[in-house]
Amino acid sequence: MTAPRTDVALITGTSSGMGMHAAVHLARRGLHVVATMRDPQRGERLRAAAAEAGFTLDIRALDVTDHAAAADLVAAIEAEHGGVDVLVNNAGRGNVATAEQLTMEQVRAQLEINYLAPVNLTKLVLPGMRQRRRGTILSVTSVGGAVGQPFAEAYCGAKFAVEGFMQSLAVVAERFGVRVGVIEPAAVASDFVANVDRAERGGPYEPLLAAYLARSSNSFATAQSAVDAGAAIADAVLADAFRFRWQTSERATAFVGLSLADIDGEGVLSATRQWISDGIV
Ligand SMILES: NC(=O)c1ccc[n+]([C@@H]2O[C@H](COP(=O)([O-])OP(=O)(O)OC[C@H]3O[C@@H](n4cnc5c(N)ncnc54)[C@H](OP(=O)(O)O)[C@@H]3O)[C@@H](O)[C@H]2O)c1
Repeated sequence: MTAPRTDVALITGTSSGMGMHAAVHLARRGLHVVATMRDPQRGERLRAAAAEAGFTLDIRALDVTDHAAAADLVAAIEAEHGGVDVLVNNAGRGNVATAEQLTMEQVRAQLEINYLAPVNLTKLVLPGMRQRRRGTILSVTSVGGAVGQPFAEAYCGAKFAVEGFMQSLAVVAERFGVRVGVIEPAAVASDFVANVDRAERGGPYEPLLAAYLARSSNSFATAQSAVDAGAAIADAVLADAFRFRWQTSERATAFVGLSLADIDGEGVLSATRQWISDGIV
């Protein structure tokens, strides 16, 4: 009898932040982690964190907006390891600008990284997961995937889009044994703020933007650590009792509660799963 193979997790955007720590947490918990980043030379922090935890990681290049490269990577993992069992769509980038300040190129760029990339990777891993009748796809959205926030129109719009796509897919995928969910962090101390795409200062919105940025910097002063947010991602992925919607902290749960009555997603899914319950697969 052949031994069962080690579960393989593919995670995006692991050069920093919660993706980096989620990769370490998942490897520590026994998965073979394919940790991807645009430039593996920027993987020194991840390599150091993994070495400190006592293991090495399988680090590979992936710009998630390059859909052909994503297809090649998933095919390579399938050939080498027999499949992707866990996909964590983590790579993302913020944008601070109100509608009038945004160019359509910036809106498209937000959709490319925060929405189309997770959709593409999800489509790539689904056939294998469906055939094996097992798998987990977790997308890191944001509290901004449930609550619209000033000066975050393009970012929140893209994160809402991921939540809509994944919530629609969840009841279909589960019929083939594939678990689909989203996880919503609030403020997390990472490279996120430094990496945000920002509007130029000045103009009619300046007083409002200044007020928003002051509030935001207060909120980031007490941000959740990226280590803890990464652990929350790993916990969700490995949970026996999976749910559609997760948050990485109590603060995030309280915040999405402003918009959501269905904090864990079970209310919607228990209704929509009835719509396809007559189909036998
Ligand atoms: N920090 C927060 O407060 C917060 C709150 C809610 C949600 N989130 C979400 O959490 C996720 C992780 O963010 P974080 O806070 O850990 O921020 P981060 O430290 O900036 O990490 C984001 C990662 O995404 C990568 N990335 C950017 N563009 C990419 C691309 N085209 N292809 C592949 N990777 C790319 C970055 O790597 P390189 O630039 O090195 O390639 C980086 O490693 C994101 O989806 C973000 O929207 C963050």
